[in-house]
Amino acid sequence: MPKQSILILDFGGQYNQLIARRVRECSVYCEVKPYTTPLAELKAMEPIGMIFTGGPNSVYAAGSPQVDPEIFTWGIPILGICYGCQLMAQSLGGRVTEAADDTAREYGKTETYYQTDCRLFQGLPAQGVSWMSHGDYMERVPDGFSLVAHSDACPNVAICDEARGFYGVQFHPEVNHTEHGVDMIRNFLYRVCGATGDWTMGDYCRTAVAAIREKVGSGRVLLALSGGVDSSVAAALLAEAVGSQLTCVFVDHGLMRKDEGDEVEAAFSRWNLNFIRVDAEQRFLAKLAGVTEPEEKRKIIGAEFIRVFEEEAKKIGQVDFLAQGTIYPDVIESGAGDAAVIKSHHNVGGLPDYVDFKEIIEPLRMLFKDEVRQLGRELGLPEYLVMRQPFPGPGLAIRIIGEITKEKADLLREADAIFRAEIAAAGEDRNVNQYFAVLTNTRSVGVMGDGRTYDYTVALRAVTTSDFMTADWARIPYDLLDRISTRLVNEVPGINRIVYDITSKPPATVEWE
Ligand code: XMP
Repeated sequence: MPKQSILILDFGGQYNQLIARRVRECSVYCEVKPYTTPLAELKAMEPIGMIFTGGPNSVYAAGSPQVDPEIFTWGIPILGICYGCQLMAQSLGGRVTEAADDTAREYGKTETYYQTDCRLFQGLPAQGVSWMSHGDYMERVPDGFSLVAHSDACPNVAICDEARGFYGVQFHPEVNHTEHGVDMIRNFLYRVCGATGDWTMGDYCRTAVAAIREKVGSGRVLLALSGGVDSSVAAALLAEAVGSQLTCVFVDHGLMRKDEGDEVEAAFSRWNLNFIRVDAEQRFLAKLAGVTEPEEKRKIIGAEFIRVFEEEAKKIGQVDFLAQGTIYPDVIESGAGDAAVIKSHHNVGGLPDYVDFKEIIEPLRMLFKDEVRQLGRELGLPEYLVMRQPFPGPGLAIRIIGEITKEKADLLREADAIFRAEIAAAGEDRNVNQYFAVLTNTRSVGVMGDGRTYDYTVALRAVTTSDFMTADWARIPYDLLDRISTRLVNEVPGINRIVYDITSKPPATVEWE
C-alpha cells in the first residue's frame, strides 16, 4: 500500500532538509522538490499536504520564486514557512512589504503568543520562544485568513484559513530554538492533513536499498570503511543492497582504539560483501617514527592512507562507483546547494583523485546523524558501532603527544578503554559527547609500593558539545574521576599520574593535536 506523503516545496531556504527531517521524525514520508517542479508532476505524487519552505528572496522582488496559482485550488493543505508564508499571503491577495522599521524586522529568538484554538497550535502552550529570520512583513493578510500568533513587535506572526487548510508562520518551527516547533509540524501533519504516521526507518531502508540496486545495476562499488558510524552504516546499507558487488576496504593503521578493528570486522560478518582488512600497522608506524609535529603526523597518515587504499583498489580492478558515508551536516558544511558536491575529505583526504571510478554514491546524503544511527540499527549493526563517538581519521596518533611508538599506542589503548568503560558504566556517556585519554609526553616521579616510579602522565578529556565547533569540558563527578584514576595507575603499567583537562574550546581544541 502506498504511504501517505508530504510534499516539501523548496524555495532555497537554509533549513529545508531540516523540515524534511522533522516530518520523518513525525513518522510521515516526505519528498523535497524544487519550487519549479510542474504542478502536474506534484499532483502525480498524490501528497496529503504540502509545506512551502523559507527562502532568501523577497516575494515582491522581481524574479522571486513563484508557484502556479492553481496550486491553491488543488484542495490539499499547505503550511508556509517564512518565505513560503509570505508567498502564500501574496498569491492569495494579501500584501507583503519590506518591514519599515527595525521593530517589524525580526531575527533570532522572539517571544511569541499563539491562539491555541487554531489547529496548528492546539494542545500547545499559548506563549513561547520562536526563531524568526525575516525582514519582510505581511501588511495585509488575504481574505479568509485570520491572525493566529503575534510577537511584541509584529502583529501577524502566523495566519490561517482553517477551511482551506492553509497555514503560514513567519518563524521557523523546524529549528530547535522554536519551542514546540516539532509539535506544530506534527499538528499540521496529523490534525490538518490527516496523517496516520505510517512511515518508519524500516521503510526508508527498503526504499534506499531499492534505489541503490537500481542505480548500481550489476556495477561494482568500492567503499573506504573507517569504522566510524557514517561509513559503517553506508557499508551496511550498500551490503544489504548489492552484497558481493560491494568491496569495503578497511585500512587498520594500528592507531585504532582497543579491539576496534576486530569489532568492525565482526559487525560485517553477516553480509556477503568483500571485506578487505589491511593490517598496515607496521607501515604507518615506520612512516611516523621520530615524527613529533602534529600537522606532519596528520599529513603522513593521510598520504599513507591513500597509498594503501590505492594499492588495494588496484588489486580489485575497475570499479564503477566509489561510495562515501557523507551525511547531511557534511553537505551543509561544505556549502553545497542541490548540486552534487563531492566531499573527498572525510577521514580520507582527497581519495577520489587517486582511484579510478565512474561515479560517486552517497547513500546517507540526506540524513542527519541520529537518523544515520537509527538506520544502522535497522540494518542490524551492533549498538557499540551505531553509538560510536567521533574518532579522528589519524586516530591515536594525535592523542600521543610527541613521538609515536607501538608501546605508547598499546599503553594509550589500555588507558582509553578503561576510561571509556567507566564513563559508560556510570551512565555519563549520555551526558558527554566525546571522551578519550591522551598520552602526554610528560613523565614525572611517583611512588608505588615502596619504589620510585618515573612514568607517563595520562590526560583525560571529556567534552559536551552539540556541533564540535565549540565545546565545554564535562563536569564529571569527582568520585568517578577518582575511580578512573585509581584503575588507570593500578592496571596500566607505565602510567603514574592522571590529569583532567578543564579547558573549553575555544581557546583549546577537543583533540590535543
Ligand atoms: P578539534 O580538535 O578540532 O576536534 O576541536 C573537533 C572534532 O573533530 C574531530 N577531529 C577529526 N575528525 N579527522 C576527523 O575525521 C581529523 O583529522 C580530525 N581531527 C579532529 C575531533 O575528534 C572532534 O570530534
